[in-house]
Amino acid sequence: MKKILMCPPKYYNIEYVINPWMKTGTEIDRDAAYSNYNLLKESYELSGMEVLEIEPVEGSPDMIYTANLGYTEGNVFIKANFKAPERRKESEVAVNYFESLNYKIHTLPENILFEGEGDIIRSGTKYFIGYGERSSINAKEHLEKILNKELHALELNNPYFYHLDTCLGLLNDETAMINTAAFTKEGLELIESQFKNIIIADEKDNNLLACNLVVNKNDVFIGKGISEKLKRELESYGFKITEIDMTEFLKGGGSVKCLTQEIFD
Ligand code: ARG
Repeated sequence: MKKILMCPPKYYNIEYVINPWMKTGTEIDRDAAYSNYNLLKESYELSGMEVLEIEPVEGSPDMIYTANLGYTEGNVFIKANFKAPERRKESEVAVNYFESLNYKIHTLPENILFEGEGDIIRSGTKYFIGYGERSSINAKEHLEKILNKELHALELNNPYFYHLDTCLGLLNDETAMINTAAFTKEGLELIESQFKNIIIADEKDNNLLACNLVVNKNDVFIGKGISEKLKRELESYGFKITEIDMTEFLKGGGSVKCLTQEIFD
């Protein structure tokens, strides 16, 4: 059973601008944010996933994006080192949370940026790390050592797709969805060498951060409004699609995956 961590949008707001999706003065419709959040949570539970919730903290308006709090595998929690000072408190809160669950906490050296599952994504045995916008390339060797796994590094060079999970969605060991505009030529070649099936999201889908998806067996959870072409392609690989309205969360630059930290066994 997949286990994931979410955080209710109690204090979610646009209070600062740290990515191009965020605009000062943007209002959040809290009722809409809650109803989208609850729908996502209930859809996960219906699909058989276990949802844990971390208590939101006042003054940490981005904490809903739990993917960034760190990376969890086995009994290990690797704490995020956020680039933006505004988000640093979140990872401290996450440390307390995982400590209370008896996880062994790992902290990377201060000068090494690492934004958790926003930049490390995994499908089965394949691990990828995104760097260049938020996490730093030298996070790779530290993570490899802690996890005793090899990570494939992908450089990000488009500020709109600043975390790896905004432009690469792993559906299974053979199938990936990508936004080609977010990667370098070398990065695209690496992805092509790792996956038999590659679904390319077009501009309309990328404007919804379609790659920012979550998979549980054949269920795919994805932002509402994706193109018919993308739906047909996902269905042709046997996936069942659940679309969730992510309008409120796109204002902060995130979608389904950003609101979800997978807790790996
Ligand atoms: N406003 C947040 C930030 O810029 C959004 C984070 C989205 N999370 C993600 N996993 N891509 O840090």
